[in-house]
Amino acid sequence: MNVRNDTLATSVCKIELVVEIQPSQDMDRQHILLLGATGASGLAFLDAYSESAQKPKLTLYIRPRSTSKLPQWATNKSGIRIVEGNLDDEQALRTALSASQDQSFPAVTTIISFLGAYLSLQAVFTRDQSHPIADTFQRAILPAMKDCKVSRILVLSTPTAFSLPDEQKKMSWKWWFYTMIPLLLAPQGNAEMKGIAEAVVKAGAADDKLDWTVFRVPHLTDDNPHAKVIAGSLDRPFEGGTDLSRGSLVRWVLGEVEEKNWVRRAPLLGNA
Ligand SMILES: NC(=O)c1ccc[n+]([C@@H]2O[C@H](COP(=O)([O-])OP(=O)(O)OC[C@H]3O[C@@H](n4cnc5c(N)ncnc54)[C@H](OP(=O)(O)O)[C@@H]3O)[C@@H](O)[C@H]2O)c1
Repeated sequence: MNVRNDTLATSVCKIELVVEIQPSQDMDRQHILLLGATGASGLAFLDAYSESAQKPKLTLYIRPRSTSKLPQWATNKSGIRIVEGNLDDEQALRTALSASQDQSFPAVTTIISFLGAYLSLQAVFTRDQSHPIADTFQRAILPAMKDCKVSRILVLSTPTAFSLPDEQKKMSWKWWFYTMIPLLLAPQGNAEMKGIAEAVVKAGAADDKLDWTVFRVPHLTDDNPHAKVIAGSLDRPFEGGTDLSRGSLVRWVLGEVEEKNWVRRAPLLGNA
């Protein structure tokens, strides 16, 4: 994705933060719409949610055939609502973003997306770079979000989601090599990741009230969920590693929902 430099100057911060999550009084006023809840990161998010002291309301937007992937406890817990629908189902999206009729769920305040493509061997050979998920952001998710007056969105993407001249020049060889891997081995997944980031940044360029964060993740693992997360950029020596545990990722995301340190920015994350 090529994003203009003036957009990027405001998009990517040049500082690094080590984040430790503290429970907050404000989280119980949040209502989060989770996209990708049935994936490995989404399930890690539900684990972290179950442990958190202050629980936001949660709506899980799930493909109809995927509801069985959710843990049983999440399907009948008060404070969690499940809405079934495909990503291009505008009516279902609006339902998921709106307050419930009985007012037990207020309107959504924040969208979090852990959506992404599955690895496909076929795409390696065909060099498929289609991005159906990213297309639904542009066509359905972001417009529904705007209609429903939701102003905060945090989406998962990949380290090379942005073509930053500074980052490319100053990237270490280790990171340069690392960023080649998804390009070569996951062309379709990489296209989705870039497309999602591009759709969100583009929507933000057209609407300065859109508080977006694109968190760029390296190799995701199921290691220590409480590992420290470093957030920064690739345009200077980045102290985070090329691994990120999903547990630490989701805790970082939960912290960012309330702390808003990276609004209209695209931090690269890695474990210390
Ligand atoms: N693994 C890595 O090292 C790595 C590194 C960088 C980026 N990523 C990206 O990060 C994403 C998240 O990783 P993960 O391992 O947590 O996720 P994952 O287990 O691959 O789960 C993907 C999620 O996206 C949903 N999804 C996929 N295609 C969809 C579609 N067409 N419509 C609606 N939902 C769809 C899945 O829903 P269903 O359950 O309904 O299928 C699932 O909830 C990956 O998909 C990958 O592209 C991964």
